[in-house]
Amino acid sequence: MKSFNVGIIGATGMVGQRFTLLLDKHPWFNVVAVAASPRSAGKKLKDAIGSRWAMTEPLPEAIGELVVMDASADVDKIAGMVDFVFCAVDMKKDEIRALEERYAKAECPVVSNNSAHRFTPDVPMVVPELNPEHIEIIEAQRRRLGTKRGFIAVKSNCSIQSYVPALHPLRKFGIKNVLACTYQAISGAGKTFATWPEMVDNLIPYIGGEEEKSEQEPLKVWGKINGDVIEKASTPNITTQCLRVAVSDGHTAAVFVSFENKPSKEEILKLWSEFSGVPQELKLPSAPKQFIHYFEEDNRPQAKLDRMLENGMAVSVGRLREDTQYDYKFVCLSHNTLRGAAGGAVLMAELLAAKGYFDR
Ligand SMILES: NC(=O)c1ccc[n+]([C@@H]2O[C@H](COP(=O)([O-])OP(=O)(O)OC[C@H]3O[C@@H](n4cnc5c(N)ncnc54)[C@H](OP(=O)(O)O)[C@@H]3O)[C@@H](O)[C@H]2O)c1
Repeated sequence: MKSFNVGIIGATGMVGQRFTLLLDKHPWFNVVAVAASPRSAGKKLKDAIGSRWAMTEPLPEAIGELVVMDASADVDKIAGMVDFVFCAVDMKKDEIRALEERYAKAECPVVSNNSAHRFTPDVPMVVPELNPEHIEIIEAQRRRLGTKRGFIAVKSNCSIQSYVPALHPLRKFGIKNVLACTYQAISGAGKTFATWPEMVDNLIPYIGGEEEKSEQEPLKVWGKINGDVIEKASTPNITTQCLRVAVSDGHTAAVFVSFENKPSKEEILKLWSEFSGVPQELKLPSAPKQFIHYFEEDNRPQAKLDRMLENGMAVSVGRLREDTQYDYKFVCLSHNTLRGAAGGAVLMAELLAAKGYFDR
């Protein structure tokens, strides 16, 4: 595989910090540019982050020495330095939409963690094990944008990264109804216990916009390319409640599901254990070997014990049992800033690189 020069837009933030760790010594990607708001621009990344560093490992030295550029003012300069950018910024949705299109139109592909373009019909929203074929819509998007190389590809919200992978291989039984309650870590809000002390010993029963994303995004992931757009799937019916809990990292979901044709418990367990996708076939560097891990113990998965499974890129599932109102219920967990954010974006970029989308 060739190597590619990359930029991190939003490098000072929670997801951006994860990117610095994942991309340091990445076999294909080499960080040459970092950008954030005008507040950080002009400072070395290590100084711009300062006391906001929220990871347990230290900031990689060489990346920390890079001078932060202005994500908006320096679009053309950054586009001239890199083969593509990762983007994770906290701005208004319309501003993010416009910023990402400016990079794409400057012929700089954008691999995004932001939600702004998730429902743009020709922007693929990819979980590489589930819907890798959606990247083929990029040709239609390039025609719309009038670009040769530039495009935007997004990853889905962190809340759906645990239960959608677990439901995916069960779709052949005709999933009718899904109820999912998510218990989401504070890093999902870009926070730590130091920066959000009110969350110690607490639970907040509301995360703005999260329930809508959790109900709608799976339908795009399960959609089909039709001409120049991705058409959303019309089923299953999904209802969710999303709660913020006093956990540093790792989103858990309690899931209830009913089917047209109810499978046996053994059939479900077999499909989970055998489930593997294109990232595993292509042996992409960040792909987990075993995507879904099932725990037999009644008290697993636990956020603290299991979120780092396979470098935080696997999905942990447990407590599968029959339900009195739905057919089955189970619990699942994924690391929200690894599989659910920066790690998922790096895996998607590896897929795009392997399929030639960053070639010049
Ligand atoms: N945390 C998660 O688990 C997670 C999961 C999936 C998706 N996401 C998404 O990823 C994005 C970033 O989330 P986060 O948790 O990393 O947020 P965060 O910690 O608040 O970081 C926000 C980043 O955006 C930059 N920024 C803010 N205003 C800007 C502007 N006007 N121009 C350019 N850059 C600007 C900040 O730069 P300064 O430091 O200079 O202010 C910082 O680098 C969001 O869209 C979020 O929804 C997060």
